[in-house]
Amino acid sequence: MWAATVFTLYPEMFPGPLGLSMAGTALERRTWSLETKNIREHGLGRHRAVDDTPAGGGPGMVLRADVLAASVDATLDPSDPRPRLLMSPRGAPLTQKMVRALSERTGVVIVCGRFEGVDERVIAGRGLEEVSIGDYVLSGGEMAALTLLDACVRLLPGVMGKGESGVDESFENDLLEYPHYTRPRDWEGRKIPDVLMSGDHARIARWRREQAEKLTRERRPDLWRKLEEP
Ligand code: ADE
Repeated sequence: MWAATVFTLYPEMFPGPLGLSMAGTALERRTWSLETKNIREHGLGRHRAVDDTPAGGGPGMVLRADVLAASVDATLDPSDPRPRLLMSPRGAPLTQKMVRALSERTGVVIVCGRFEGVDERVIAGRGLEEVSIGDYVLSGGEMAALTLLDACVRLLPGVMGKGESGVDESFENDLLEYPHYTRPRDWEGRKIPDVLMSGDHARIARWRREQAEKLTRERRPDLWRKLEEP
């Protein structure tokens, strides 16, 4: 079973949308498991404080290293082989390649950041790898964690139907996906391209490849340049 452990101040946000649809069915079938740990259980004092003001001044609050480390240490076996990720806009951009690699491990540990940040010392001290889901700022790492988990879980064996191996999808071959059509053949005067009705599978495959390349060139010149590199 692929096992996810999530450290968060908002455990109520899980499984959230991952309790529904493909991921939810897979959770019920125990294809994967989800454990949440409330960091506040290791908070300090009567108020179970988890954050403090930033050293050097400035706005906002910083998640304390000692509190997060206590939560991690009380939960994880030091020999736990799972990668430990910290969701953060400073992190390495999440890619389909990373998602596939994570889905092939035994699971993941995810720390959700909050406030202005996490005390830098606990990142190195507990071997956390920072991962970002994009160049925008969320109010915390929880939505990012849900996104990462969704992307991983759908690749686990048996989660996608047999028709949907995932190999034809956007990014799996570094191309955006070709356009899709279904009945009716003529909708508001817009017709399904004739080639798709031809029954000529080689021609259809060629057309789809060309369309995928055209879309990638037009919409994602950054991806296209990477493909052209030797
Ligand atoms: N936390 C806040 N913003 C984030 C982002 N873009 N990616 C991952 N974690 C985040």
